Amino acid sequence: MHEFGVGILGTGMYLPEKLLTNSDLEKMVNTTDEWIVKRTGMKVRHLLEEGVPTYTMGVEAAKLAIRDAGLSPADIDLIIATTVTPDYLTPSVSCLIQKHIQAENAAAFDLNAACTGFVYAMTTARQFIQTGFYRNVLIVSNEGLSHVTDWENRNTCILFGDAAGAVVLGRVDQQYGIRENYIASFGNLGHSLTLPCFYLPEEERQKRTLGRERSIWQDGSEVFSFAVRAMTDATRRVVEAAGKTIDDVDLVFPHQANLRIISGAAKRLHLNEEKVAVILQETGNISSASIPVALDMYSKNDRIKKGDTLVMVAFGGGLTVGSCLMLWGK
Ligand code: UT7
Repeated sequence: MHEFGVGILGTGMYLPEKLLTNSDLEKMVNTTDEWIVKRTGMKVRHLLEEGVPTYTMGVEAAKLAIRDAGLSPADIDLIIATTVTPDYLTPSVSCLIQKHIQAENAAAFDLNAACTGFVYAMTTARQFIQTGFYRNVLIVSNEGLSHVTDWENRNTCILFGDAAGAVVLGRVDQQYGIRENYIASFGNLGHSLTLPCFYLPEEERQKRTLGRERSIWQDGSEVFSFAVRAMTDATRRVVEAAGKTIDDVDLVFPHQANLRIISGAAKRLHLNEEKVAVILQETGNISSASIPVALDMYSKNDRIKKGDTLVMVAFGGGLTVGSCLMLWGK
């Protein structure tokens, strides 16, 4: 069967205007700008205004990505929205976006692989386009993490922000586009990063005795060491599967959870830090939106050249891991 080349045709993003700085956080919990910068690299996050739903960011990012691809909403065959903060379970975020951008020909579903959602969605979308089943797939990663942050818990509230990033994937010349995907899950480690929904067992309640019950909780150091190992391994896998070496990679787009995690993985890979995209100082951890937002920023600032070898690599709740190697064809 003929296989089509699959690549990114357009990118877009949306960051809310309201800012939360480290000095704002100093007034909210017992922390310091110095601690946050040293331990995470973060300086500013963007937050949705109170009462504004997550999907509104995705709508803006989606419109920009479709325009950047030179398409119109009617050209989109499928919308995959990734999020851990859906405004409703139904209608799904993807259906809300479909309605608001008027993508009348698109099927739509949500995908939850927490912070790895975008990489999972890239893998999923590729299958539809490669086989010829669909032509244009819109991936929108929307994360309103301020909705699920416990603002009294200094272990977590310094980390998260709100954002949406979007890409349109479609057919590209075979010499460009996605070469390798890798996705994996480690459900046995799921307890180390949790966000309860309808079910709140005693052990989860115990982790949240201070503030909000339905908020993100994590064992920071357990997730940290998993993340460094998993991102290193996932990067190596796609590089080797593509018959390349780390030196062939021009830019790595890692999930933006902590600068020390990113640096730790880069060091293990013997990867020059200049080849690693970092945006977390101005966004915080925006879960699955990290990679598409970074892609949009780097692409719009001409920091990606046609033909560049890119690796995207993420880890997240589940726990989940994923990576993707592609040759940039825009
Ligand atoms: O995408 C979601 C996935 N999640 C992650 O990627 C998170 C991965 N983990 C991390 O990024 C890091 O573990 C954190 C940034 C969450 C924490 O950094 P750490 O270097 O692992 O610090 P720690 O938890 O070991 O805490 C060190 C100290 C503790 O004090 P004691 O017990 O040594 O006296 C904490 O209580 O730092 C304290 N601490 C803080 N101090 C000032 C923890 N949070 C803060 C804070 N400000 N915000």
